[in-house]
Amino acid sequence: MTSVHPSRAFRPRLGAAGRHRLARVTKWRPGVKEIRLDRLLLGGQNGLTAQQFAGVVDDPLWPSRRVVDGPHAELLRRARRSQHAGRELTTEDILASSYAEMALACIRHTGSYFEAVDADGVLAQARRFVARASDPSAPVVAGHQHSAPGLPVLVVPVESSECYQVLDGHHRVAAMAEAGVESVPARVRRGVVRTPLQELLQEMSWLDGGHELYQPIDAPEVASWPTVRRCTDRLESIWAFLVRSDMPAGSGASYLDVASCYGWFVSRMQELGFEAEGIERDPLGARLGSLMYGLDPARIRTGDAVQLLRSAQRRWDVVSCFSLLHHFVLGRGDCTDVELVQLLDSVTGKVLFLDTGQEHEHWFRKSLRGWDTDHVREYLLANTTFDRVVDLGPDSDDVAPYAGNYGRHLFACVRD
Ligand SMILES: C[S@@+](CC[C@H](N)C(=O)[O-])C[C@H]1O[C@@H](n2cnc3c(N)ncnc32)[C@H](O)[C@@H]1O
Repeated sequence: MTSVHPSRAFRPRLGAAGRHRLARVTKWRPGVKEIRLDRLLLGGQNGLTAQQFAGVVDDPLWPSRRVVDGPHAELLRRARRSQHAGRELTTEDILASSYAEMALACIRHTGSYFEAVDADGVLAQARRFVARASDPSAPVVAGHQHSAPGLPVLVVPVESSECYQVLDGHHRVAAMAEAGVESVPARVRRGVVRTPLQELLQEMSWLDGGHELYQPIDAPEVASWPTVRRCTDRLESIWAFLVRSDMPAGSGASYLDVASCYGWFVSRMQELGFEAEGIERDPLGARLGSLMYGLDPARIRTGDAVQLLRSAQRRWDVVSCFSLLHHFVLGRGDCTDVELVQLLDSVTGKVLFLDTGQEHEHWFRKSLRGWDTDHVREYLLANTTFDRVVDLGPDSDDVAPYAGNYGRHLFACVRD
């Protein structure tokens, strides 16, 4: 690799001529596929697989991150910013970058990062990369372990997604992104890999290993998985009801979501100012909530809702329990359905939000016969101490792939 001082060599973006030149130096080969840069995810480093690297740096979302959002691209953005500011990329800039953090982690765990074996080596490596990024057609200096700039990057498909994990070529991908290129030629290796996030989601007991999400998760490799429950519709109804009824809304009011799944409602209610907590049977719920929504895992009590509610010594201002009651109606709970709603009643200070499976849903047309909207409302009034039960209307989840199901009404059970 040529070593060009970054202050002289770094050009922030290639214009049309530059992109044309980049295309010319790219060596097209059979079996090579053009892949959009936003579909390329970070892979392993320095001989460690992506999973292993994610483990050693304790960052399970490493393989879920796009290369264009990763450390290589971050270093180039720093270089561009310093060039725009009319100054050189300093040693401090480089050492503060996630690129240096990644390289030093490789050195700690494998002994080297390309030729670098210490911080000085990382600085030199980073400067060479910045220089090369400004001149993609520059020849590679013999002895350097980088692949030539024109070679297709090597990728492997990520299971059940439109994404690919980069096996070789992170620097090239980041440089192309910085140059404004939108896709790269890539050689696609046989087989598929799964990311740690995909594994966690599939291990979650409720979805039985399916390629779908129950609540919204923002990660590129699950972007094509259907999200069973939109959730934003229910949250909007809840918030609008609390505000118009002058109920506890944020400002430190307490909130408990029973059967919180990944913790989407806990995290959103926390953002709205509630002291929010959840109860979830699957221990992966707390882990996923922490990873995906930044929730403190201690906010999710892991265990069976019935036992935890029975032993609760307090009330929460606002409680929700979504899509759990019908499992008890169908005899799958540790107590009767009536006992469950009574437990929910006993821990609710002001308002309980609840939805449940209903008879209009294709999969419950026989098993929940009679459970229409009026029945659910009357059932809640008859079996709890709430003063009013308000029907807030159906959810918007009656869509593919589960069209004919959902459209469950959300009820607010209120203590006046
Ligand atoms: C159908 S999902 C509903 C998720 C969420 N309430 C929603 O509507 O978006 C059911 C969730 O409840 C959890 N769950 C089922 N039975 C439970 C129980 N007895 N105690 C605690 N959680 C339970 C499951 O693990 C799963 O995450």
